[in-house]
Amino acid sequence: MSNRKLVMITGASSGIGFELAKLFAKDNYDVAMSGSSDRIFDSAKEIENMGVEAYPFKADAGTYEGVQDFWEFLENKERILDTAVLNVGISLGDSFLNNNLDDELKLIDINIKGTVHMAKRIARHMDKNGSGDILIVSSLSATLPTPYETVYGPSKAFGFMFAEGLRQELKDRNINVTAMLPGATNTDFHHNAGMDTSYFGDDNIKNDKELVAKQGYEALKNKVDHVVCGDENTKQEAVKNKQTTEELKAERHAEKAKLNQR
Ligand SMILES: NC(=O)c1ccc[n+]([C@@H]2O[C@H](COP(=O)([O-])OP(=O)(O)OC[C@H]3O[C@@H](n4cnc5c(N)ncnc54)[C@H](OP(=O)(O)O)[C@@H]3O)[C@@H](O)[C@H]2O)c1
Repeated sequence: MSNRKLVMITGASSGIGFELAKLFAKDNYDVAMSGSSDRIFDSAKEIENMGVEAYPFKADAGTYEGVQDFWEFLENKERILDTAVLNVGISLGDSFLNNNLDDELKLIDINIKGTVHMAKRIARHMDKNGSGDILIVSSLSATLPTPYETVYGPSKAFGFMFAEGLRQELKDRNINVTAMLPGATNTDFHHNAGMDTSYFGDDNIKNDKELVAKQGYEALKNKVDHVVCGDENTKQEAVKNKQTTEELKAERHAEKAKLNQR
């Protein structure tokens, strides 16, 4: 059996999750990784090519069974989980009036219900083993209203405060929890959210996913409570958001997230 440490990462077939997987592999971790499509198997091969073991699992993180099955797959490895990254998340562009309720409820199932479900399994496992690190991927969107992705921002605000609360509860149990708040980042995320024609459809205005992942990785290793990830402008935006009214932040986000601008 491998004597390397084990990390699990949800939503790791591409984007920020995959960049984090590469950083852990580079640091000699074995990586258990999930995604909802067959891409996860190709991404796992890339991780294995870095000289560690990868355990890919295909499941829908928006269903109870999908989350539970990934957890049982991990448990069956009979290994101690050193680190868990709760990364999987989606957004949904367009207006609340236009969007299908089912799509919005699916977003809540993935971003909120799935996160709580997996965190429960992980926290108990780590407590039994006496230590662990948990990274929860929230967003800069946690710090403002997000019109035209109206359900997304609040789901990420949940993730941020969930992480901070859990951190306080688990710190005396030798388990660290860190929240990661990336600004807009150059992954498939906005395309998948149907936002190609919004300001966010332009990759040139976004942060580099490698930089974002590196900052999250370092924050976890330094056991800080949360980190805003991205360039200096992104970090400044987070500071300004603390002093800006919700109404003004909502107006500004609406301009950026509205469709048919490009
Ligand atoms: N990109 C940004 O601008 C940005 C900014 C702030 C925060 N974030 C947060 O960062 C996290 C990662 O986003 P990203 O930008 O890397 O997005 P991404 O490029 O769209 O990647 C999402 C990952 O999640 C997987 N996934 C999607 N739906 C799934 C489901 N139902 N079940 C299981 N896996 C699923 C995808 O794999 P499959 O396609 O194979 O399912 C993929 O590996 C999210 O929580 C997001 O909210 C992103």
